[in-house]
This record gives sequence, C-alpha cells and structure tokens, in this order.
Amino acid sequence: MNKLATQLNDTLGAAADFLSAAGKRMYFPYGGILGQGAEAKSCEINATIGMAFEEDGSPLVMDCFKKGLNLDKKAFLYAGSFGIPKLREQWKEMEFKKNPSLKGKAFSNPVVTNALTHGIRICAELFADKKDTLVCPDLFWDNYELVFQEAVGCKVEHFNTFKKGAFDVVAMKAALLAPGEKKILILNFPNNPTGYTATLEDAKKIVSTVKAAAAKGKKIVVICDDAYFGLVYEKGIHEESLFAEFSDLHKNVLAVKLDGTTKEDYVWGLRVGFISFAFKGATADQLKALEAKAAGNVRSCISNASSIGQHLAIQAFADPGYAAQKREKYAVLKKRYHQIRVILKTHPEYAKAFEVMPFNSGYFMCVKPIGVDAEKVRRQLIEKYSTGTIMLSGLIRLAFSTIPTAKLAKLFQNVADAVSDLRA
Ligand SMILES: Cc1ncc(COP(=O)(O)O)c(C=O)c1O
Repeated sequence: MNKLATQLNDTLGAAADFLSAAGKRMYFPYGGILGQGAEAKSCEINATIGMAFEEDGSPLVMDCFKKGLNLDKKAFLYAGSFGIPKLREQWKEMEFKKNPSLKGKAFSNPVVTNALTHGIRICAELFADKKDTLVCPDLFWDNYELVFQEAVGCKVEHFNTFKKGAFDVVAMKAALLAPGEKKILILNFPNNPTGYTATLEDAKKIVSTVKAAAAKGKKIVVICDDAYFGLVYEKGIHEESLFAEFSDLHKNVLAVKLDGTTKEDYVWGLRVGFISFAFKGATADQLKALEAKAAGNVRSCISNASSIGQHLAIQAFADPGYAAQKREKYAVLKKRYHQIRVILKTHPEYAKAFEVMPFNSGYFMCVKPIGVDAEKVRRQLIEKYSTGTIMLSGLIRLAFSTIPTAKLAKLFQNVADAVSDLRA
C-alpha cells in the first residue's frame, strides 16, 4: 500500500473500514507532479507546468477555440455517452489525415472521453484484471500508477526506458515475455516526462518486438497515449501514431489509441479526448462492440463528457483558421526546443553538472544531475534561484512549453549552478 494511502486510512481510523479495497488503496499524489508544482507556484521561472504559455506569459490558446465561447443554446444539451456524432466524424477524419499509414486500415470510430486521463481509466477498467500487468517504461507519467495500480488494482511493471540514447527495446521485450498471459503495454510518444519520441529505427524494433511476443502467445493490449501528438521537432522521428502499426499487427494484439485536444490543441481545461480501437481482422461489428464497451463505461462513470467542450471543438476544427493557428503555436514550442539545443551546444561545461536525457519532441525535456541527489537540486533551485522544476525518478524535468525563449538560458544556468552549489 502506498504510504500516502496508509496515512489517509490512519486518519480515517475506524471509518476506513467503510472503504472498499480500491478505496483503501486510493490517495491524492501530493508529493508527485502536483505537489512539486504547488511548491514552485511563486517562482520567477516556473518550469513545472504541463501546459503551454506564450512568450509574454499568457496561456497559449488558439483563437478558433476562444472565439467559440458564445455558443448556441444546444451546447447545453446532453452530448450522449458515445460523444457528439459530428465531433466523432471530424476527429476520425483528422486521425486519417495526421496518420497516413491508417489508410485502408479498419479501426473503430472514436468515442469521446473526458480527455485523456479518462481514456486511460477506461482502458484500465475494460482490460486490466488484478492478475494482469501494465508494462510501462520507468520514465512515465505518474498518473498511470494511480489508475492501474490503485484504482483498478492490477500489477505495474516498469522497464528501463533508454539504453545508449535510444528506446530500450530489449528491456521492453523482457517485460512483455515475463510470466503472465495478458500484458497491457502503454507507450507514450512524445513522452512525458522525457520529451522523447521513438525514432524510425526504435519504432520498427518496438513493433517487431510486440509482434514476436504476441507470436509467443502473449495477449497484448497496446495503449498508445498520443497526448502530445504532432509536437515533433527533429527529422528521423516516427511522427505518426504507432497505433497504425499495431492496428493489424497480430491476432493477439489489440490496439487502443488515446488522443485529444488537451495538449495538441492547447486547451487543457476543455476536457475533450477520444478512445479508438483496432485489432487484426476486426469486423465492423466487433469494432462497434468495442465502441459500445467504451461508451458503456462512460455511462457508468460520468454519463457523458461535456457538451460545451465538444461544441467548442466542433467549431474550432471547422474554423478556416484552425490549421494555420495550430502551426503558429507549434512554431512557438519548436523555437524553444531549438534554443535549448543552442544553449546546450554553447555550454559544454554543463555536461559536468548534468546529463541531458534523449529528447526530440513534446512539452518537456529532462536532465540527470551528476553526483548529487535530484530532489536536493530541485529544492535548491526553488530556494536559491526561484526556479521551479519537477523531480521524477532521479531526473529533473523542465517544461520548456511554459518558459519564454529569452529565459531558457537562465533556466539552464540555474540548474548547473544549483548542482555545483550542492557539490561544494
Ligand atoms: C502522457 C500524458 N497522458 C495523458 C495526460 C492527461 O491529459 P488530460 O489532461 O487530457 O487528461 C497527460 C497530462 O499531463 C500526460 O502527460
């Protein structure tokens, strides 16, 4: 049992006997990303937040979403558990455009979720029993554990994420082949926290490894968490969702795609996401059955996702300015990414203070302090340098999505200085 859960149960005393086993396991992750973010709230440089801000510090939001706020009255009607049909059609069409490899492949219509976290929970409830294992890289978004381990009670097994600057496919293979008939593999590219997306070479190996494990009889549900889809800043990176590859890979593989507006359309509070399914040889009826399973889960939990959010998305996607505005916002993040590359190149001395983890995409990048404890570095950064960062698995995560380009140099200098303070 997590010690935060134990503390809550101790506080409840005899009242904890009212809780179910899942209720007893549940806790609020105060010490994780959210708690560390709260500690950095008043920092001058705050690189903790998983959102994006303009160069002037205002939220990075596209006009096509903002201008729809004066919606028609019908936006207050129920949206239905599957989601508004028009929005589902629009999103499916967009999934094909963004992933040309999906052409000719069968996959379900997307079911609308209350954004991606909800999609993750639906997956856990539809696919994970107590005896099953979630297989997940050891650099991962910490909410996966809260959902799969605490809420649903399945096992979580982490594998090493990087080896020699690339995705550690050998470690993933060992985790997939470990005892246990059904494995739920979660892959998240661009990744939180590392900002890494599989290269073309990694992607080939990942797909062939899953296929080989399936051929050995493992039943594998592959969840593609595509929250940061499209935010890739280098060449030679696998830009499409791996869902396209998994959708018809092997009869023992069921592919799930989780995607949505939150990160890629910069509307974190809108709460509009999607879940789609595919498997080799799936008939139209089988795909519809999976949609009904997902919608049934939605109905049993939240009834339906926000109609207002869905109406705003419908309008924004149909807006003639949508594509150009999205490119413009992407360019803001890409510029910061390249500025970081310049900073790291022009400061070779930083290599003595921290190791730069592989990154090529997304909202974040991570550094590993050398010779000092990462949590101590995080604290020193807050106390002496008014700089907020997130410490995860011995790494310092830097959200460049929130930091104006002009402040990036200072951010990295502060990290290097904090490391050298602690060494002194
Ligand atoms: C990898 C990853 N997946 C999913 C989510 C959840 O996104 P949402 O806000 O849409 O629930 C996040 C949010 O930080 C994330 O980093």
